[in-house]
Amino acid sequence: MNFSGAARVAGVAGWPVKHSRSPRIHNYWLRKYGIDGVYVPFAVNPETAVEAFRSLPALGLRGMNVTVPNKEAAYRAMDEVDPMAERMQAVNTIVVGGDGELSGSNTDAFGFLESLRESQPGWSAASGPAVVLGAGGAARAVVAGLLDAGVPEIRLANRTAERAEAISDAFGSPVGCVGWDDRASSLDGAALLVNTTVLGMVGQAALDIDLAALPRHAIVYDIVYVPLETPLLAAARLRGNPAVDGLGMLLHQARPGFREWFGTDPEVDQALRDHVLADL
Ligand code: ATR
Repeated sequence: MNFSGAARVAGVAGWPVKHSRSPRIHNYWLRKYGIDGVYVPFAVNPETAVEAFRSLPALGLRGMNVTVPNKEAAYRAMDEVDPMAERMQAVNTIVVGGDGELSGSNTDAFGFLESLRESQPGWSAASGPAVVLGAGGAARAVVAGLLDAGVPEIRLANRTAERAEAISDAFGSPVGCVGWDDRASSLDGAALLVNTTVLGMVGQAALDIDLAALPRHAIVYDIVYVPLETPLLAAARLRGNPAVDGLGMLLHQARPGFREWFGTDPEVDQALRDHVLADL
């Protein structure tokens, strides 16, 4: 790492924060582009998170990424938020303006869509309905991104039906709820399947879903990235469906913050993927 006393400083606020991959991503880009800057992990207790975010201008920081469990506190601490953060009621990227104002955005939906388009250039919203599994914060981002892209129908299935219904209520009629037990039959005619649950992640059970009803051309996207090849993606590839892993979403969601803080729109390339993979 190579930065001077004049370095631009940004970071990531989480609790705990030590699992965050963001420092690895941003410091890679800082080195690659020769920028005098540094990106630091901040362990920010959710009980004092609003105070911490309000202090960013006083500390001279350019801004911060925000991760679990501080995204809602970050939303509350902002002077202004963009429409996506407003919709999500959650902020993952804070920019300190020249006037010391705090602007919040949420780049998770952007990251999801950019990685989908990068990996599957033939995909378009008009390809057909999407099935989304899960109803946490990640599901909200995926649903928001797909709706913004113009996907005509989203079938949302979650173990706890009330959480899926809350998303459907918030996002409106293109989002219909499917019972968790009907997740396999909901794949009929779908163009895209997205897993946003923790199932398939290291230490968790595999996602149990029969893909028989899924058309062969449908894309299967798993937002899990540890491991990169989940049982779901392996099963999809085996029957010929295009498969997309979760690393791209993690890398692309980081781009808008980097551009704002450090002045360069950074590239997501194979070398970055390898650099992050080496530490997963
Ligand atoms: P995030 O905000 O990161 O998306 P989350 O809110 O913890 O995370 O959501 C985790 C998702 O995994 C939820 O959809 C959860 O289902 P519930 O809403 O029913 O809890 C889902 N999930 C976790 N364990 C599961 C399991 N054993 N079977 C089915 N779904 C599971």
